[in-house]
Amino acid sequence: MGAKQILVINSKGGVGKSTLTSNLASYFSFKGRTALCDFDRQMSGVRWLERRDPSRRKIDSITGWEYRSGDDYDWMIMDTPAGITRKDMMSLIARSDVIIIPVLPSPIDIHAAADFIRDLVVYGRIRTTQKPLAIVANRVKTNTAVYDLLKSFLASLRLPFVTSLRDSQNYIHASIHGIGIFEMDPLMVNRDIEQWQPLLRWINEAAEKGRMPLANHGRPRPRAVVHSRAGKPILRAVR
Ligand SMILES: Nc1ncnc2c1ncn2[C@@H]1O[C@H](COP(=O)(O)OP(=O)(O)OP(=O)(O)O)[C@@H](O)[C@H]1O
Ligand SMILES: [Mg+2]
Repeated sequence: MGAKQILVINSKGGVGKSTLTSNLASYFSFKGRTALCDFDRQMSGVRWLERRDPSRRKIDSITGWEYRSGDDYDWMIMDTPAGITRKDMMSLIARSDVIIIPVLPSPIDIHAAADFIRDLVVYGRIRTTQKPLAIVANRVKTNTAVYDLLKSFLASLRLPFVTSLRDSQNYIHASIHGIGIFEMDPLMVNRDIEQWQPLLRWINEAAEKGRMPLANHGRPRPRAVVHSRAGKPILRAVR
C-alpha cells in the first residue's frame, strides 16, 4: 500500500504551512516511515531537515516535483509554496489523501483564505471528490475579535475547523533545531501538544477511512421533488 499523503496548502504566505509540515513530519516519524516533500523553492522543509540531528527519528527529504511514487513510505507530508498556481494546486490535491489549510486570524488573511478556499472547492473539486479537508487556525491569540470573526467565517463555509494553535516560541525553537514540538521537553510544550490532538485524531481517522465524508460536507443536501412537464418526479438539490 502506498503512503498516506498529507497536503498542507494555502496560497497566502507566512500562515504556517512549513511549521505545520515539519511538526507533522516530526509526529509521524514516530508512527512509520516518513518523508517531507518540499514543493517550495524556498525549501524551508529541506533546510529544517538539514538542521535535524541524525540521532533523531528519520525523516526523508524529498524535493517535491521530482518524486512520483509513495511506495517507500507510510506517511508523506507535503509543504507547498505561497502563491501556488491553480494548476499545481489541482495536481497536488489529486495526489493527496488529506488536505490541511492553515489560516491566520487576521482580517487580511481571512479574506485571502476565503478566496483560496473557494478556488480549492471549485477547481480542486473538493466537494465532489470528498477529500478530507481541515482548517487549522494558527498563531491564535484567543478571545480576540478577529479570532471570533475567523470562527464565524469558517462556520459559514461549513468547513471543518479542527483546531487552533497558539502563537508560541516553542515552534520557533523547534524549527531552529530541526525538530518538532513532539520532540521537546513535555513540560514546555504541554499546552501546544494538547492543541494538536484534535488535528492528529482527525488525520488518523481520515487516513484510516480513506475518503471519508467531511463533517457537514458529506451530508446529502436536502432535496425537493420537482415534476417535469411530463409529470415525472425529478429530484433537485435545494440551494
Ligand atoms: N504557532 C506559531 N507560533 C509562533 N510562530 C509561528 C507559529 N507558526 C508559524 N510561526 C512562525 O511564523 C513564520 C511563518 O511561518 P511558516 O514559515 O511556517 O509559514 P509558511 O506558510 O510556510 O510561509 P511561506 O508562505 O513563506 O512558505 C515563521 O517564522 C514561523 O516560525
Ligand atoms: Mg513555507
